Amino acid sequence: MNEEKLKKVMIQTLGCQMNVYDSERMADMLFLLGYEPTDSPWKADLVIVNTCAIREKAEQKVFSSVGRLCAIKQRRPRMKIAVAGCVAQQQAEKLSARFEGVDLILGTRVIHKLPDHVKALENGESRITDVEMPDSGGLSEENCPPAAQDYRRRPGGVSRYVTIMRGCDNFCSYCVVPYVRGRENSRPPGRIVEEVRGLVSAGAGEVVLLGQNVNSYGKKEKLCSFAELLEQVNDVEGVERIRFVTSHPRDLSDELAAAFSGVKKLCNHLHLPVQSGADPVLKRMNRKYTRDAYLERIEKLRSVSPDIAVTTDVIVGFPGETRQDFEMTLDLLEQVGFDTLFAFEYSDRPRAPARKFDSKVGQEEKNARLKQLLQTQEKITRRIHESLVGRTMNVLVEGYSRHGRSPRKQESGGCVEMTGRTSENRIVNFEINPDQGLVQPEDLIGKTAPVEIIRACANSLKGKMPVEESAVLYTSKGGKIHAA
Ligand code: SAH
Ligand code: SF4
Ligand code: F3S
Repeated sequence: MNEEKLKKVMIQTLGCQMNVYDSERMADMLFLLGYEPTDSPWKADLVIVNTCAIREKAEQKVFSSVGRLCAIKQRRPRMKIAVAGCVAQQQAEKLSARFEGVDLILGTRVIHKLPDHVKALENGESRITDVEMPDSGGLSEENCPPAAQDYRRRPGGVSRYVTIMRGCDNFCSYCVVPYVRGRENSRPPGRIVEEVRGLVSAGAGEVVLLGQNVNSYGKKEKLCSFAELLEQVNDVEGVERIRFVTSHPRDLSDELAAAFSGVKKLCNHLHLPVQSGADPVLKRMNRKYTRDAYLERIEKLRSVSPDIAVTTDVIVGFPGETRQDFEMTLDLLEQVGFDTLFAFEYSDRPRAPARKFDSKVGQEEKNARLKQLLQTQEKITRRIHESLVGRTMNVLVEGYSRHGRSPRKQESGGCVEMTGRTSENRIVNFEINPDQGLVQPEDLIGKTAPVEIIRACANSLKGKMPVEESAVLYTSKGGKIHAA
């Protein structure tokens, strides 16, 4: 195709991994219409903002981002602007009223219709809104566009996302997701496995299976169980590692806990959002488990896989959360020993019932609790990291570290710093010296390498490749690759 004739699309992705995945699919579909990706709105014929509504701040970010793009459009009137994702679903009217420059508003359940809408825009239509969201069943695959024709075109590195289900039926009282993503639907296992195969053939070493509540995978549609799906993905040749997010504590079955020892490629890490360590808060959050039940699940997991790394999400300042409730959460952090956590200040969301709950916690108090929570976790993370010093761990190498190729590094004896993750999802940065000619950095990317942990940092680990191993890279399948 003539380079100059290619149209350009810029996709800005906000929010969670599901949006990252959806953006990739949108890019796939648009490629077939002749659109190449660009990073600049000044070069784009079409800009898509894929949005997140999870907290008020996320939503504000969307409005300011769309505002900026509309200002650019004043100087580039032929550029089309589309808003997709969770804010598009929930605030279509507001977006349309506030921004004349927005040409397309696309809901979360109709992204497969993107090509039709873009063709309509190219033919002169404007101001299209499509936020249709059928409320029940039958949407498992239709709203999930076909897999890429050519997986090599998908951007991204060693670790790749595959959405296995959409929507959520849990209705936690603070959460907007069930309203913006609709009811829960699972994709057939065959399609998931096919997609994993494609991604692996294009160089992926790790796949991350995505769903808001993966434990209920397939139940509604009477497909296989999630643990069985894991087995099927495990059987795909070339997959080195499997991860998944997110698991709801209430539904974490014994069968799934057992998968941590039975499914060989499943990583030794579980993200299990607890939200709070106090029963009255959990009850009002509609989480449907107690603190003890959560702890019992952790115990079960550790009986299957003693070294498993557990991470979590916590909300501070939920309506009615007392100081004592909050301290129960701090105590739970210690008791479980989470590797790390994501912490959020509670934020009122439209339609989520908690917005009407009494006893809202003030902003200052929320700030203070967040700070204290993070400090508590920092100490726990550091303790865990320090206990790992001296151990050699298998690291799936993702690329150069942030400072990996800096001139300073190059000057200091020709070392470059690479980055990757352990099976427990811990980030390890480690230096290699390509001048020694043992291992070339590029050869390491996508491979699993043994790395000795030499120092604990706050959010990562520092390592080095044992010298005698430097000439040999191990893949997790046990094969050896002799580097140049
Ligand atoms: N399905 C996942 C969560 C997806 S949202 C689960 O249930 O675990 C990611 C995180 O955002 C949640 O775990 C929660 O900690 C946080 N979150 C969701 N709604 C929020 C709100 N209204 N205010 C603050 N944090 C919120
Ligand atoms: Fe939101 Fe709860 Fe569903 Fe997670 S499980 S997406 S927190 S409603
Ligand atoms: Fe945000 Fe929607 Fe994900 S609200 S967190 S982008 S499901």
